[in-house]
Amino acid sequence: MKRILFIVGSLREGSFNRQLAREAEKMIGTRAEVTYLDYRDIPVINQDIEFPEPEAVAGLRAAVREADALWVFTPEYNFSYPGHVKNLFDWLSRPLVAGDYETPTVINGKRIALSGAGGKMTTAKCREKLTELLTFMKADVMEPQTGIVLNVEAWTEGRMILSEEQKDSLKKQVEAFMKYIS
Ligand SMILES: Cc1cc2nc3c(=O)[nH]c(=O)nc-3n(C[C@H](O)[C@H](O)[C@H](O)COP(=O)(O)O)c2cc1C
Repeated sequence: MKRILFIVGSLREGSFNRQLAREAEKMIGTRAEVTYLDYRDIPVINQDIEFPEPEAVAGLRAAVREADALWVFTPEYNFSYPGHVKNLFDWLSRPLVAGDYETPTVINGKRIALSGAGGKMTTAKCREKLTELLTFMKADVMEPQTGIVLNVEAWTEGRMILSEEQKDSLKKQVEAFMKYIS
C-alpha cells in the first residue's frame, strides 16, 4: 500500500487546512496509508547545528523518505507560505553530510500535491510561491491543486463548510493524486 505523508501548514488547533486534510483523507479511504507530519519540534534552520542533524530533523527526513508522496495543506500568510513551512523545506533541501552536494537530498524528486484554504484569493499566491520553492528544490509538484475560499461561517464561527463544487474539486485532486502515485 502506498504511503502518503500529509503536512498541514497551520499549527493552530482548529485549523481549516487540517479540516481540509481530513476531508481528503476520507476521500482516499483505504486506498493508501495516510500519516500526518508532526513538526512542532523542528528547530529554526541554523547552519551551526546542521551536522550532525538534530534528532527532530532526522525524524522529519525519515518520515519524508519513507513516504511515496507528500500532500501539503497550507494557509496563505501575507500572499505567501507560512514561515514554518519554509523552515521545514529548508531543512529538507540540505545535504546529509557537510559539503556533499552530489547525493540527492530527501526532497529531490519527491512527489507533492498542494492544497489550501483561505480568503477570496483561494491561497493562489501561497501555492504559486510554494510551487516555485519546491520546484527549485527539484521536487515534483502535481497538478491540479485545490484552492478553497472559506465560507463566512468559518470566519465568524470557526466552522468550515465545503460547497458541493469545492468537494468536487478536492475529489478530482484526490483521484489525480491516486493515479500520480500509483
Ligand atoms: C500572519 C497571517 C497572514 C495572513 N495572510 C493571509 C493572506 O495573505 N491570504 C489569506 O487568504 N489569508 C490570510 N490570513 C488568514 C488565514 O487565511 C486564516 O487565518 C486561516 O484560517 C488560516 O488557516 P488555518 O485555519 O488552517 O490556520 C493570514 C493569517 C495570518 C495569521
